[in-house]
Amino acid sequence: MASSTPSKPKWATVKTTLPVRPLPLNSTRAPVATDRLIIRALVAEDLESLNVIRSQPEVMINTPQGRPDIDIDETRPKLDFFLPPKDGAHYNFAICLKETGEMIGIGGCHQLKSIFGWPAMGYMFRKDAWGKGYATEFTKGWLDMWCKLPREEAEIEVDQRSFSEGDEQPLEIMTAFTSAENLASQNVLTKSGFERFLDWEDADLRNPDSQITLIAYRYFPSKHLAN
Ligand SMILES: CC(C)(COP(=O)(O)OP(=O)(O)OC[C@H]1O[C@@H](n2cnc3c(N)ncnc32)[C@H](O)[C@@H]1OP(=O)(O)O)[C@@H](O)C(=O)NCCC(=O)NCCS
Repeated sequence: MASSTPSKPKWATVKTTLPVRPLPLNSTRAPVATDRLIIRALVAEDLESLNVIRSQPEVMINTPQGRPDIDIDETRPKLDFFLPPKDGAHYNFAICLKETGEMIGIGGCHQLKSIFGWPAMGYMFRKDAWGKGYATEFTKGWLDMWCKLPREEAEIEVDQRSFSEGDEQPLEIMTAFTSAENLASQNVLTKSGFERFLDWEDADLRNPDSQITLIAYRYFPSKHLAN
């Protein structure tokens, strides 16, 4: 679904901030509780639960892959990507029910440098967990964790369309992307404090012969911390 390059990017090198990298390793990430959820570090034992999520066509239709994983061997590298020794390059977590400990989703920053040059976050939940406000609860909780990470100055190349023109030192942002058809995800992002900044047409990675409308969202960690 989401493309690797937004059409017609306008690159600029900017001075901004980012969380100190490498990011905290999985072994140092303390679980964080929200009202109904536990957001905790991913572990190798999550493979089966992740496979259940990634085996659901309704979940996977909203991913670039567009189809369920064939078997657990196809899911394994998707989890390994977020485990040591690669954990310092992402901030992605298991999302579990507080009451039972059951893993119902996965979410967080899966890319430190995404299509606009900024970090990007996302999430996916098992279908039986949809429609209960869990994604919004997770996103708000996770953004708070992200915003509280220690910062350092950074000089990075970003797409100018992600910040206001003439802004030489743009405020750091977290980005997220959805297809125009994914209204549930758009609602989650808006309710969690993201603002929509760009719509564009791109090749649909699920079906390279067709086009898709994608929507980019941004969130300002410094504004969150000021509140
Ligand atoms: C998108 C997803 C994470 C939403 O999870 P969720 O826990 O159901 O989300 P929430 O309950 O927190 O919020 C969803 C909101 O969208 C609304 N919504 C759901 N389906 C909708 C639809 N078809 N049209 C309009 N609004 C819709 C819900 O009513 C809710 O808003 P409300 O609280 O104002 O009523 C979940 O459906 C999912 O995992 N989908 C597959 C993976 C995916 O799409 N990931 C995001 C890729 S960008």
